[in-house]
Amino acid sequence: MAMKVGVFVGSAPMSFTAESAPSSPVDLRWGEPSEATRRYTYGATECYVMRRHGEQGQVAPHAINYRANLWQMKVLGVDAVIGSHTVGSVDPKLQVGGLVIPEQLIDYTWGRESTFDDTRRHVEFSEPYDSVLGKSLASLDESIVHGGVYGCTQGPRLETAAEISRMANDGCTLVGMTGMPEASLARELALPFVSLCLVVNPGAGIAGGTIDMSALRELSVRGARKFVDLIERFCLVQ
Ligand code: HPA
Repeated sequence: MAMKVGVFVGSAPMSFTAESAPSSPVDLRWGEPSEATRRYTYGATECYVMRRHGEQGQVAPHAINYRANLWQMKVLGVDAVIGSHTVGSVDPKLQVGGLVIPEQLIDYTWGRESTFDDTRRHVEFSEPYDSVLGKSLASLDESIVHGGVYGCTQGPRLETAAEISRMANDGCTLVGMTGMPEASLARELALPFVSLCLVVNPGAGIAGGTIDMSALRELSVRGARKFVDLIERFCLVQ
């Protein structure tokens, strides 16, 4: 059966190879999404890609309208959402340059619009990520680490070494700024969601010294190819 996949990507340029066409937002009830999605076709699979930081990478992690972005995917009728995220490592065993699909998350963000429904009390979220989707992505590349805990910080600044050390004590293995409320809003909309993470730096204090920001940027750009390759292969085997 034909599948529709929604994909959120970061600010590094991503060149998807398939034919593409822009698909304008049709329902702005939650405000403007970061940009219009582009639709790429892989056999019977339609892949809708949105850069969550906007066309010029101008929207900071805490200022993203996650509700409008997720709503756009819902309106487009996607069956599943892949959130690709660049992250720092909290677990020193994780290699910079490696891909990780976490199984759990801890949310350290604050003040973000994080629900579609202020009247509903509870949304089940024990397992924040879709394990079937995670397994199916992880099966495409044996170097992928499937497991671990994504800690989502508020940003846009990076963390202090003490914050990373606290996150390690909490059980986090990765740190990023855009994983939430992306995951929980997807759950509210009953969209299976998976986070595909690329480690672009050791978290603050993990490798001693300060974080090399130019290396971080360079790896984010180089690593974009890894995201695209994996997502394209995923779409082709659906
Ligand atoms: N912390 C938070 N977000 C990040 C990092 C980090 O070290 N690296 C890439 N995104």
